Amino acid sequence: MDKVVALCKRRGFVFPASEIYGGIANTYDYGHYGVLLKQNVIGQWWKSMIQERDDIVALDSAIIQHPRTWEASGHLAGFTDPLVDCRTCKLRFRADHLDQAACGRRPSKLAGQTPECDLTDPRDFNLMFETSIGAVKGEGSAVFLRPETAQGIFLDFKTVLSFARRKPPFGIAQVGKSFRNEITPGNFIFRTLEFEQMEMEFFVPPDQAGHWYEHWLAERMSWYERLGLRRDHLRLRAHDPDELSHYSSATSDVEYLFPIGWSELEGIADRGNFDLTQHAEHSGQKLEYVDGPSGERYLPHVIEPAAGVGRSMLAFLCDAYDEDELGGDQRTVLRLHPVLAPVKVAVLPLVNKDGQPELAREIYEELRRHVPAEFDSGGSIGKRYRRQDEIGTPWGVTVDHQTLEDGTVTLRDRDSLEQARVPRGELRDEIARRLAAPWRSPKLT
Ligand code: GAP
Repeated sequence: MDKVVALCKRRGFVFPASEIYGGIANTYDYGHYGVLLKQNVIGQWWKSMIQERDDIVALDSAIIQHPRTWEASGHLAGFTDPLVDCRTCKLRFRADHLDQAACGRRPSKLAGQTPECDLTDPRDFNLMFETSIGAVKGEGSAVFLRPETAQGIFLDFKTVLSFARRKPPFGIAQVGKSFRNEITPGNFIFRTLEFEQMEMEFFVPPDQAGHWYEHWLAERMSWYERLGLRRDHLRLRAHDPDELSHYSSATSDVEYLFPIGWSELEGIADRGNFDLTQHAEHSGQKLEYVDGPSGERYLPHVIEPAAGVGRSMLAFLCDAYDEDELGGDQRTVLRLHPVLAPVKVAVLPLVNKDGQPELAREIYEELRRHVPAEFDSGGSIGKRYRRQDEIGTPWGVTVDHQTLEDGTVTLRDRDSLEQARVPRGELRDEIARRLAAPWRSPKLT
């Protein structure tokens, strides 16, 4: 994890937020390559939900919803972590994570480990961030930053149904920020105070819930595999009954073998009709589905695959991180699936003279109209390749003496290191062909 964190900082993927003030707990900013990688993860999720099927529609609901939303959803009463305070070091810890919580004082290492640690009894602490609407503090109504994007989908269920021309089974998908006041030990972007979720609520006739639950378990596992995560680093784990959220009758987590151990990547839950029932009761609105021809009425059940953008990105980064030796030097390389890589192709002049930089720049300007590309002429060719390997660029185009003679360039592959000679005019098609080809992590072989 330390190596991935260091690479993220060195190459500006992700770094601590508010750093000039010493940082702020569990909060990170995404730099240039981090933004591009994150957008590619989100893009692939939308592609699998919207472009590759026709039974899901998109939504972007508000972060601040009517405060009664959270009464109805159960978050106001039940979305809590058990916390203990230490009267000695004045720090606050999650009672169920004491085995990972560093104490604020020496010689104690973990909270509660020595007699000096004076811990209170656990108290329930609500994870929602509260704020208020209104110009004068205290006079407006209290509202909450959403702790999950899902509730906006339930509130809009009836409205979406009226224009989406869909009937159950159908889904509503949304990507957006959620907020949780997490008291937790570090672990980089694994658990942060604000994070993006990719959630889809799939509304089904009640007797089809079991079928669709199995469908989404298989589909979501396959998504991570198709994007290159190693199969032996992925598993599905069903929740024990005492782990289930208040709304769920069955949940399985897609877990990934992070450097911190097997941990949740995504939750897939059978939420039954809990949310629609609650919102119907609290709002007084009818939220059932009425089938036109038969007149049948029912509250759909909901199957929900809920993933985190940052957490998925961390899994892709950990899985892709590799070190090997090249020409006697150590190379750090991100073996990202090409569709996820922030930059697809780097165009580099072999030397910085003889018209090569000008020609390379011309080729770069052609290519960037079709794929994310970078031009780099600074430093030795070896150094420039290392830079691209570190950000996971799958292909490098080198312009050399021969390019000036016969119009061909070399096309280097990040993983196999093979160099093919390709006519300049065929580059665009060749890169498109490679991007569309099935990909498998070279770390598997
Ligand atoms: N609507 C259901 C729901 O929110 P969840 O398991 O609490 O379920 C879904 O969250 C996913 O969101 C998690 O699997 C994780 O990937 C991500 N996630 C949750 N809390 C997070 C946090 N504090 N920081 C980063 N990602 C988080």
